[in-house]
Amino acid sequence: MMEPAYLTSTRASYDTVASSYASLVRPMYDNKPFDRAMLAAFAELVDGPVADLGCGTGIVTGYLAGLGVRVSGVDLSPGMVAVARRDHPELEFSVGSMNSLDLADSSVGGVVAWYSIIHTPVELLPEIFAEFRRVLVPGGHLMVAFKAGDEIRHLAQGYGHDIELDVYWLEPDLVAKLAHDAGFTEVARLVRIADADEKGPQGYFLARVPDVDES
Ligand SMILES: C[S@@+](CC[C@H](N)C(=O)[O-])C[C@H]1O[C@@H](n2cnc3c(N)ncnc32)[C@H](O)[C@@H]1O
Repeated sequence: MMEPAYLTSTRASYDTVASSYASLVRPMYDNKPFDRAMLAAFAELVDGPVADLGCGTGIVTGYLAGLGVRVSGVDLSPGMVAVARRDHPELEFSVGSMNSLDLADSSVGGVVAWYSIIHTPVELLPEIFAEFRRVLVPGGHLMVAFKAGDEIRHLAQGYGHDIELDVYWLEPDLVAKLAHDAGFTEVARLVRIADADEKGPQGYFLARVPDVDES
């Protein structure tokens, strides 16, 4: 089957920016206390192995590992995965798509999708959330970071390179509905206003799969 065009352009764009992405993005986290707080809450709640889906160069993967989480990363872009392996040789990373994960049903205790659902057309997001749900155990946690809004922005430039990338800004209520429809129970959500290096509000959404005796 032919790959959808958005996956091809997303992969090509991140392959192009991979070399500069980590050095430009990593230092930002020093000034993002709310991002770190959400990840810390997730790290405290989660039990069992965590899959960081759309892990990019492994910045969040490494951060969670530093909090004691057993975590590995998956990303569409071989270029991003190569940088993740270079920067975090102690962690496991693989190339793959969260549209169809190479993970067994009920095999992970946590899924992180940190700004990685933002390139998927909205009408395809139910498939992605169903895939998150499929791989999580009962009681497992899902942590999603996204750009909060309701528009599509096309990027022809990013991280100092020419790219072709659509970014889907998502209303928090839509993210909550996608999670609910996939079988998740909401735990917490946060919207913070834009920092100086951002173009709009940022959203964070934490949910869990009901335990067997809850569903
Ligand atoms: C904005 S970057 C975020 C990377 C990382 N999570 C971080 O916070 O630094 C988005 C990443 O999601 C990946 N991605 C986008 N769609 C994907 C998909 N369908 N499957 C796997 N990875 C995907 C991209 O290749 C890219 O590395």
